Amino acid sequence: MSKAVNIAIIGTGLVGKAFINQLAAVKSSIAYNVVLIARSSKTLISKDFKPLSLTNWESELNSSPVGAMSFTEINDFLKKSPLPVILVDNTSNEALANEYPTFVNSGISIATPNKKAFSSDLKTWEAIFGGAEKSGALVYHEATVGAGLPVISTLNDLIATGDEVETVEGIVSGTLSYIFNEFSTLSGSDVKFSDVVTKAKQLGYTEPDPREDLNGLDVARKVTILARLSGFDVESPTAFPVQSLIPKPLETASSADEFLQKLPEYDADLAKLRDEAFAEKKVLRFVGSINKGTGKVEVGIQKYDASHPFASLKGSDNIIAFKTKRYPNPLVIQGAGAGDEVTAAGVLADVFKAAQRLAK
Ligand SMILES: NC(=O)c1ccc[n+]([C@@H]2O[C@H](COP(=O)([O-])OP(=O)(O)OC[C@H]3O[C@@H](n4cnc5c(N)ncnc54)[C@H](OP(=O)(O)O)[C@@H]3O)[C@@H](O)[C@H]2O)c1
Repeated sequence: MSKAVNIAIIGTGLVGKAFINQLAAVKSSIAYNVVLIARSSKTLISKDFKPLSLTNWESELNSSPVGAMSFTEINDFLKKSPLPVILVDNTSNEALANEYPTFVNSGISIATPNKKAFSSDLKTWEAIFGGAEKSGALVYHEATVGAGLPVISTLNDLIATGDEVETVEGIVSGTLSYIFNEFSTLSGSDVKFSDVVTKAKQLGYTEPDPREDLNGLDVARKVTILARLSGFDVESPTAFPVQSLIPKPLETASSADEFLQKLPEYDADLAKLRDEAFAEKKVLRFVGSINKGTGKVEVGIQKYDASHPFASLKGSDNIIAFKTKRYPNPLVIQGAGAGDEVTAAGVLADVFKAAQRLAK
C-alpha cells in the first residue's frame, strides 16, 4: 500500500487557489489526501477522513452547509486523523498564526507562507518550535521570506552543516525593490520618489495604502525571521532600528489618496540622498541586514556601488546574500519574491518535505 498524509488547507485566495491547483496536478508515490478546505466564511470537511475531490472543490466549498469552524474545532477534528496531518495556512490571519502552538502540541505539522507567527513576539516562536520538538510535528515556512526562493532552507542548511553565518543582507520587499530600482539607477535618474510610489500603486505593486509598504514593517518581519534562524533572539520586529520612508507629518494623513497628494512636498530629501550616491557612482537600496560580528540587526536605506549584485537588481526581484565562513564571497539568491504561483510552489515544496518524513 502506498504511503499517505492528510492535508488541511485554510485560505483559498490567490496563493491558496494556486496551491490547490498545483497539488491536484501532483504525481507522487505519496498520497496527499485533502480532508479540509476553509475560507473565512465556509468550510468543506471530509467525512471519516475520506479524501475530498479537488475537481470541483471551489463550488463545493462555496455551497457547503458548514460555515466558519473555530480553530479549536479544526484542531479537534484533525487530532482524530488516522494519518499524520499537515495544516497548510494560506491566510495572513494573525489569530490562526497564534494557534500554531496548539496545533503543533496536538502533533499537527504546519506549512505556510503566513509570516505573522514567526515574526511576532519571541514567546510565540519558542512555543511553536519548542512544541514541535516535543510532539514530533514539523514546521516549514519557506515562503515567509522571498516567496518561492530557497532562502530559509538555504540558511537552515548552512547552519545545520556547521557553517558560521557572518552577515545576511537582503532586499526582501518586492514593492521596495521596484521603487528603489526605478528611483536610483547607476546611469542616473531624476524621477521623483512620489511619482515612483504612485506608479507602483497603479501597477498593483503596493498595498492599497502604500504606507504599509513604506513603513518598513514588512521588511522588519522578514528580517526578524532570518535573524532568529541565524541565532539572534530578536524580541519582535520593532526591537531593532527600522527606517520608515513615510514623512512624519504624513503618518496621520487620513487616507492613501491624501498621503499620495502630499508626498511630493517631501521629495527633496530622498532626491538629495540619491544624487549624492550617484556622485559616488552608487545607488540607494532598501535593505534588511544582520551582522553577527557587530550584533546589529537593522532595516533601512543603504548605498551600493556598481560591482555589488544589489546595484543591478531589476523590476521587483528579491535578493539575499549570505556571507559565511565557507562563503566569504557571499552566496546570493535572487529572483521573483512575490506572485501566487511561486509562493504556492514554495508552500507545496514544504508539504512534500514534511510528507517525506511523516507519511505512513
Ligand atoms: N501573494 C503573494 O505574492 C505572496 C507572497 C509571499 C507570501 N504571501 C503570503 O501568503 C498568504 C496568502 O496570501 P494571498 O495573496 O493568497 O491572500 P488573499 O488572496 O487575501 O487570501 C487570503 C485567504 O485567507 C482566507 N482567510 C482569511 N482569514 C481566514 C480565517 N480566519 N479562516 C479561514 N480563512 C481565512 C480568505 O478567505 P476569503 O476567501 O473568505 O476572504 C482568503 O481565502 C499571506 O500570508 C501572504 O502574506 C503571499
